[in-house]
Amino acid sequence: MSKLFDLDGKVALITGGNSGIGEGIANGLAAAGADIVIAARDTKKSNQVAATLEQRHQVNVISLTVDVSNEDDIIALPDQIRNRFEKIDILVNNAGVNIRKMPEDFSSAEWDQVIDTNLKGTFLCCKTMYPDLAKAGGKVINIGSMTSVFGSAKTAAYSASKGAIVQLTRSLAVAWAKDHIQVNALLPGWIDTPLTVGSRQTFPTLNEHIEQRCPAGRWGTPEDFAGPATFLASKASDFVTGESIFVDGGYSQSTLII
Ligand SMILES: NC(=O)c1ccc[n+]([C@@H]2O[C@H](COP(=O)([O-])OP(=O)(O)OC[C@H]3O[C@@H](n4cnc5c(N)ncnc54)[C@H](OP(=O)(O)O)[C@@H]3O)[C@@H](O)[C@H]2O)c1
Repeated sequence: MSKLFDLDGKVALITGGNSGIGEGIANGLAAAGADIVIAARDTKKSNQVAATLEQRHQVNVISLTVDVSNEDDIIALPDQIRNRFEKIDILVNNAGVNIRKMPEDFSSAEWDQVIDTNLKGTFLCCKTMYPDLAKAGGKVINIGSMTSVFGSAKTAAYSASKGAIVQLTRSLAVAWAKDHIQVNALLPGWIDTPLTVGSRQTFPTLNEHIEQRCPAGRWGTPEDFAGPATFLASKASDFVTGESIFVDGGYSQSTLII
């Protein structure tokens, strides 16, 4: 049974693996035996997380400085990874940003920043890693959000990008089933990471709201992603593709009305 979830000998590329949910996923995949490539912009932060992962899990970890909104950075990735590892088995498209403001106040540049990072960056990583993933019969895990399905006044660009992640996931799953690549998405609920610090400060009642509405009665943590990501990265999910799974403690299944 444990072999179903075993990632020994696999290589996992995780964009945004130096913080929050990406770091939680990196810990989960490394605990299952995978070697890890962290790809993010902040080199110092990535190096620190890489060192901690290596020490904690006794796997090989490298960090690469990458801006996923820059196509040249993405195109350079496979050769950089091959300098250390021979292949790429698992791609986790986790890098993401949000700009919170009313739709009428968005500049064109702000819209592009969110879409280029969250959506175009995900697509270009998938397209660029495709030859390696096809060789491996690999796994892709995209990170969506509750805003993949819910509307929210101040997240027009973010919601548009995350809604599209669900449809991109389905389309790639259908296109690449012939290559034995499974493409799935995780949709996080309210997770305690640097990304949500601003929301907690802007909305003092947010904490209370989440504890009341979320059946699990709490915020999610980066560690909550270790299990679902390991499932989607492993043999255990070989017949699961095109799927989007909420990881939200049941928040999306519940209302405040009893
Ligand atoms: N926290 C939540 O409640 C929540 C809910 C729904 C969905 N999500 C999604 O979960 C993912 C991770 O978010 P998080 O909450 O863990 O936030 P976080 O701690 O702020 O992490 C974001 C990560 O993305 C990286 N990143 C941002 N822009 C990048 C770029 N252009 N190129 C490369 N890397 C980039 C950051 O690293 P650098 O700054 O070093 O580049 C960082 O590692 C995101 O896709 C987010 O939309 C989070």
